[in-house]
Amino acid sequence: MTGRLDGKTAIVIGAGQGIGAGIAERFIEEGANVVIGDRESEPGEATAERIGARFCQTDVASQADVERIVATALDVHGGLDIMVQNAGIFPWTLIEDTTPQEWDTVVSVNLRGTYLAARAALPQMKKQRSGRMIFTSSITGPRVSSPGHGHYAATKAGINGFIKSAALEFAGFGITVNGVEPGNIFTEGMEAHRSPAFIKSMADAVPLGRLGTPRDVANAFLFLASDEADYVTGTTIVVDGGQILPEGPDFRLQPE
Ligand SMILES: NC(=O)c1ccc[n+]([C@@H]2O[C@H](COP(=O)([O-])OP(=O)(O)OC[C@H]3O[C@@H](n4cnc5c(N)ncnc54)[C@H](O)[C@@H]3O)[C@@H](O)[C@H]2O)c1
Repeated sequence: MTGRLDGKTAIVIGAGQGIGAGIAERFIEEGANVVIGDRESEPGEATAERIGARFCQTDVASQADVERIVATALDVHGGLDIMVQNAGIFPWTLIEDTTPQEWDTVVSVNLRGTYLAARAALPQMKKQRSGRMIFTSSITGPRVSSPGHGHYAATKAGINGFIKSAALEFAGFGITVNGVEPGNIFTEGMEAHRSPAFIKSMADAVPLGRLGTPRDVANAFLFLASDEADYVTGTTIVVDGGQILPEGPDFRLQPE
């Protein structure tokens, strides 16, 4: 490993498992001090112990919880260089079956949580006159969608809009704001919430021929957190194995 984040302090929210755990682990490999947050304490504590992070139980939809994880990072490590808000939920529900309560729950975690994370990290980053905010968006919403993803797609497209406004508002303080749009990444969450048939159909739709891994996504976060991304703000990186490229379903080269 190359020490690309040596001495930096990062918070990764939604890191008990899946993509968030992959991001936290990748940051630690590169020398960062990491505080991970998750609503669930059991996987959160186990992941923290496995990768050498500190765990702080955090529901990203709660302003008090998000402010507490920032205070923890400042107490323990004395600063905050990188804020990652990755927590997200993706129930599969057709729009006609989506209750207003389910709509509000998805919005409060995925979209409100992103705003709360940015808001909580801002005072310290302004004081330091530097910082990186990086949010997990998705190709679902900003680029493509499928049935059952109405609320989810709306929140992820909303995150991309928020990234642009925040990047403009915070640029004068030396703070960059970016996002990553994963394609279909094989995680505990995907396995729990999507059928084997859906997962196979997604893998078949990827030109690079496989689902992504949390590490594939974490490498894009690492770039955005590193010094190499000093001049990058207000944008997103798609990490999808080429999934959004085909004009039609039959994209493979035809045999002679
Ligand atoms: N897996 C994919 O294919 C994929 C694709 C595009 C985007 N994403 C996004 O990546 C992120 C992570 O997805 P994943 O597949 O790793 O999911 P996952 O379900 O495996 O992990 C998500 C983690 O977030 C935590 N979490 C959920 N709600 C929370 C809350 N309110 N506060 C704090 N923590 C909370 C969960 O406990 C869990 O540990 C999500 O934002 C998701 O929308 C995933």
